[in-house]
Amino acid sequence: MNKYNQNLLSLYVHWPYCESKCPYCDFNSHVNEKINVNDWIQSYKNQLLAMKEELIENNINLKHLDTIFFGGGTPSLMPLKIVESIIDLSKEIFGFEKDIEITLEANPSSYESKKFIKFKQMGINRLSIGAQSLNNNHLKFLGRLHNIKDIKIALNDASEIFENISIDLIYAFYGQKIHDWANELESFLSTYNLQHLSLYQLTIEEGTKFFKDHKNGIIKLIDDNKAAEFYNISNKVLSDFRFVKYEISNYAKIGFKCKHNLNYWKSENWIGVGPGAYGRLWSLNKNKYRVEYQNYKNPKTWLSKNLLQPKFEKITKLNTYVSDIDTLTMGLRLYEGLEISKINNLSIINFRSLKELQKQNIVSFKDDILKVNKNHMIKLNSILDYLISH
Ligand SMILES: C[S@@+](CC[C@H](N)C(=O)[O-])C[C@H]1O[C@@H](n2cnc3c(N)ncnc32)[C@H](O)[C@@H]1O
Ligand code: SF4
Repeated sequence: MNKYNQNLLSLYVHWPYCESKCPYCDFNSHVNEKINVNDWIQSYKNQLLAMKEELIENNINLKHLDTIFFGGGTPSLMPLKIVESIIDLSKEIFGFEKDIEITLEANPSSYESKKFIKFKQMGINRLSIGAQSLNNNHLKFLGRLHNIKDIKIALNDASEIFENISIDLIYAFYGQKIHDWANELESFLSTYNLQHLSLYQLTIEEGTKFFKDHKNGIIKLIDDNKAAEFYNISNKVLSDFRFVKYEISNYAKIGFKCKHNLNYWKSENWIGVGPGAYGRLWSLNKNKYRVEYQNYKNPKTWLSKNLLQPKFEKITKLNTYVSDIDTLTMGLRLYEGLEISKINNLSIINFRSLKELQKQNIVSFKDDILKVNKNHMIKLNSILDYLISH
C-alpha cells in the first residue's frame, strides 16, 4: 500500500470541434457542425452529476475543484452559454478552491479574440493560445488558418485581459533551421510578456495526413541528434528569458506552472467530461486502487448516450501494474522527479538498470525522489524502457 495521500481534484472538459482539421493532429477533433446548445449543456451536466456520485461511492472526500481545463478541439469556439453553464454547474456541484485555475485553449483568430473578455468574466483566468509557429511559411506547412499578424493581435488582446497566458508551439521539423527557430523565439519573447510556454517537437501520429505524407516520402523526420540540438537551443533561449523548465515540454515563469497538468503528471484525481475525455480517481474503498472513466469518443454518440442520463463508455478498475507504470512514466516527465513512495509495487522497476543509470549520471535517486537528470530528459522514452522490468 503506498503512503501517498492524494488531495487535489481537477476537471477536464473536452470540446471536440475545430474550424478545420490540422494535418498533424490526432486529438479527438472534428470539423465544426451545427449543434443544439441546450442538449450539450444537459449532457455535460449529467456527466458532472454522475462524477459527484462516483466521488461519494469511492469514498473520496474531496470537496472542491483545484483546476478546470477546457481542452479540445478548439474550446474558444464553444458557444459562450456552454462555457458559462459548465463553470456555474461545476461550482454548484463540487465547489471551487479559492485560488482555482481555470484554463481555456484558444486559437488566434479575430473571432475568438472578441470573446476573451467574456471568458474572463465567466471565471477563466488562464488562456492557452495555440500559436503553433512564429513563421508564416511554417504555419502554412502546419495547415493553420492563422498567420503571424493574427497571433500578434490575439496576444495583444489577451494581455489586456489575462495575467496568465501560455502559448503552444510546434518545432523541430525537417527543413526548419535551428538558428531561425532560436531567432524567432528570441524576438517573440522580447516582444511579449508571457507566463508559460509549451514547446512540442513535431511527432507523426497514425491516422493523420502527415502520417500518410511521411509514408509516401513527402514529409521527412529529423534525426535524434538534430532533435537534441533543437531541444538544447530552446532550453537556452527560454532560460535566458527567465523561464523555468519544469516538465519535458513545459516552461513557466516563477509562480505560473500549469496546476492542472501538474495534477496529471503527479497522478492526482481528475474528472473528464465530454467526447473522448477520460478521468481517473483513486478509490479509497478497502484497498486503494485507481478507477478510469472513459467517454464515448464520437461527439454524436457521446451526446446521445448522455442526454437523458449519464453513460461512460467504460469504467475500469486499473490493476496495480498499469497504474504504477502510469505513475512512473508521468512522474518522470517532471524535472522535480517523482516520489517513489507513490508506486505501490516497486518490482516494476529494474533495480539493476536503475543502478546503471545512476552510475552514468542519467538519473538520480535520493530521499524518495527519483528523477531524470536535465541533460538526459530528451531520451526519456528510452530511459523508461530500460528502467521498467519487462
Ligand atoms: C489539443 S491540441 C490544441 C489545441 C488548439 N486546438 C490548437 O490547435 O491550438 C494541444 C497541442 O498539442 C500540440 N500538438 C498536437 N499534435 C501534435 C503533433 N503531432 N506534434 C507536436 N505537437 C502536437 C499542439 O501544439 C497543440 O497546441
Ligand atoms: S491542432 Fe488544434 S485546431 Fe488543429 S485539429 Fe488539432 S485540436 Fe483542432
